Amino acid sequence: MSFYITTPIYYVNDAPHLGHAYTTVAADVLARYHRLRGEDTWFLTGTDEHGQKVLEAARARGITPQQHVDELCRPYKALWERLGITYSDFIRTTEARHTAVVQDILQALYDRGEIYRDTYAGWYSVHEERFFTEKDLVDGKDPIGHREVEWLEEANYFFRMSKYADTLRAWVAEHPDFVRPASRRNELLGYLKKEVGDLCISRPRARLPWGVPLPFDGDYVTYVWFDALINYISAVGYGSDGARFRKLWPASYQLVGKDILTTHAVYWSAMLFAIGLQPADCLYAHGWWTVEGRKMSKSLKNVVDPNLLIDAYGADAVRYFLLREIHFGHDGDFSHKKFLERYNAELANDLGNLAHRSLSMIGKWLGGAVPAAGPDRGGDAELKALAAQTVADYHRLLGAASFKEALGAVMTLSRAGNKYIDTEEPWRLNREGDTERLAAVMRNTIEVCRIAGTLLAPFCPGKSAELLDRLGLGGPELDSLSSFYGLSEGGPLRLGDPLFPRMSELPAIIAATLERALGDEPPAPKEPAKKKKRTAAPAGPVRFADFQKLDLRAARILGAERHPDADRLLVLQVDLGEAEPRQIVAGIAGRYSPEELVGTSVIVVANLEPAAIRGVESQGMVLAAGGASIQSLASTLDPVTPGTPIR
Ligand code: ME8
Ligand code: MG
Repeated sequence: MSFYITTPIYYVNDAPHLGHAYTTVAADVLARYHRLRGEDTWFLTGTDEHGQKVLEAARARGITPQQHVDELCRPYKALWERLGITYSDFIRTTEARHTAVVQDILQALYDRGEIYRDTYAGWYSVHEERFFTEKDLVDGKDPIGHREVEWLEEANYFFRMSKYADTLRAWVAEHPDFVRPASRRNELLGYLKKEVGDLCISRPRARLPWGVPLPFDGDYVTYVWFDALINYISAVGYGSDGARFRKLWPASYQLVGKDILTTHAVYWSAMLFAIGLQPADCLYAHGWWTVEGRKMSKSLKNVVDPNLLIDAYGADAVRYFLLREIHFGHDGDFSHKKFLERYNAELANDLGNLAHRSLSMIGKWLGGAVPAAGPDRGGDAELKALAAQTVADYHRLLGAASFKEALGAVMTLSRAGNKYIDTEEPWRLNREGDTERLAAVMRNTIEVCRIAGTLLAPFCPGKSAELLDRLGLGGPELDSLSSFYGLSEGGPLRLGDPLFPRMSELPAIIAATLERALGDEPPAPKEPAKKKKRTAAPAGPVRFADFQKLDLRAARILGAERHPDADRLLVLQVDLGEAEPRQIVAGIAGRYSPEELVGTSVIVVANLEPAAIRGVESQGMVLAAGGASIQSLASTLDPVTPGTPIR
């Protein structure tokens, strides 16, 4: 069985933006996943190069449409390369392999009477390039630009789409998974309750000289949608390679945004029925991104320019965020603050830190090789059960294109790995010389790294490969996940730099772009004429960007001792979810004794400049209420994994 997935082909009137990247990354994740499962996989994307929009864009640049499309398809290909998009084929609708199929289909439908000529009459606006009905007009002028309209009778060609309305209604009824998610299916069912008309599939050449000429009337070009939709079959051998085509069509998935649900679910399905083909197994219409809480305007588009995001965060983190942040099918908002939070909490902390502390402890205490497994004790059985459950959930979820939830399962497993380390306390086992148990515990943690790293492969192919390489593996193997142990004892391990280094603040290029774009929106508050004198606390409002510079994190106190030289001070060893505990000197001896602090959760400023306090190194600060006399350490209401960011 083969797996065939498509994205929309994007208009080349502008450079690719976040929305284009979103659909394409989603398709790539599914393609990679099915390839990893050993399925024969084909992934098609491309560019939509005809039609009014593209012609206008070319005219605005003062070049021919052909020159324009030849240039503008390049930024798409370049972006897909940078984003790690593994498309099998990239189709351009100006290619002969496509236009020939469009013309063949038009001719065949025309010969069978499925396309007819008719005259359309209405009020035509040259500026809007469209017809309006009498009712549409406002004061006899077009309702949009309020310009002159003229009565125009125009002959055009129409596809008998109405003929297939019942076939489509039956198809949707019998195939509950044809259109997903359910909200979009309901939208389509509503649409199909009304009468479905015929579709005008031509534009007079005199008005629009850029399109596929109708084979039976040279005065017309093909309506851009009728042309574009055919890419999904022209690219896989329809009309040229029957064996190949039968293997791939119907497609497994056609991913689109919700903006083009009707053109796909109605026009495209009717076209397929008319040429004797079935629609795809699943037409998935995903939701819409807004940016920083607003509609993606021109200036906001810059803030989420996919190339900028890759420069700032790296392709893998961008891919991760796009699919992790919103449930596929729902709308969502891209905010850089949320990006940073997710990146730090999940990629840097849950997964990156699990790998880093595991590998560094094995390096320090066990010679840096894959340790021997041992009999189940402590939390072992629970961890292994969760790992097996995670793998099963992941397959079920990705099988349903539930990207967010599949990644959620991987993160839950990573967090459980961190918690396992905290409870099994390998540093204690090391101190006590219990090498066998130490080895068994560390083996379990790196097997969790292996499983999480493998499951991450379709989403973050680069980082996944890097992690698996450090574990001595050649690449992701989904089959290997049927057993908890997959590494070979004694095999070499490599620590390396943190896989996802923490970001304590927004990258400078993002902060600058954000400021510029958001600065355009509401008028900036006036600066006070004179600089105010510095006053004592509480200080004036702090800019969010400044607040974000503070890396506040949950931590657990592992040990506490009195400072050798100061009665007021305690020297704490705290677990911040890092490979090694940190030492922090705190002025809390007047309120707490060392013994009562062990095991307590605290909040730590993790990125405070290290300092020697009365000769003892301190790497951070614990937060406490009170001034000269401490009333209470700051803690969290519920237990929190050490290292979790506090916002
Ligand atoms: O419609 N959020 O091309 P197009 C999420 N050429 N996805 C978005 C988005 C957003 N804010 N903005 C765009 C066309 N998209 C036609 C398609 S197919 C035979 C012809 C994504 O360049 C989403 O996939 O306007 C949407 O459907 C597509 O880009 C529209 O791209
Ligand atoms: Mg569009």
